[in-house]
Amino acid sequence: MTALTVNGEERASRSGPMTPLLDVLREEFFLTGAKAVCREGFCGACTVHLDGEPVASCLVPLGAAAGREVRTVEALAAGGLSRLQQAMEDHDAVQCGMCFPGMLMTLTDFLRHTPAPTRAEVKAALAGNICRCTGYERIVDAALDAARSA
Ligand code: FES
Ligand code: FES
Repeated sequence: MTALTVNGEERASRSGPMTPLLDVLREEFFLTGAKAVCREGFCGACTVHLDGEPVASCLVPLGAAAGREVRTVEALAAGGLSRLQQAMEDHDAVQCGMCFPGMLMTLTDFLRHTPAPTRAEVKAALAGNICRCTGYERIVDAALDAARSA
């Protein structure tokens, strides 16, 4: 068994240590927010926070997450929508939604470190998050709005 903390709860996984963290979250813990799209570290749809830093959970073996703190998109709305989530809603930014859990986890971390970003900085922060619906401008608008209303 591998012990780890997920969204503030102590959890134990029966999966092998090389199992991608993404699969443990989705298939064992039924936290299906993080999406399996490329499984190659390319698209960012599987992004979660590991000890507070965004990571591609498809590339993190469970063993590397042992004893560490994982936060998934499910935790963002624990007390109602986060400011960023509300801004995405207000800007009608979500299309198919596959990229959004990753977008939110990346931007949540980015805005924590960069509370007053420029448009170019938001775009650069999203370099590792691919939206195949290509709705980038509204996503950037929403991130800037969320920063302004903080
Ligand atoms: S599914 Fe992990 S980066 Fe694409
Ligand atoms: S909203 Fe469809 S991939 Fe981004």
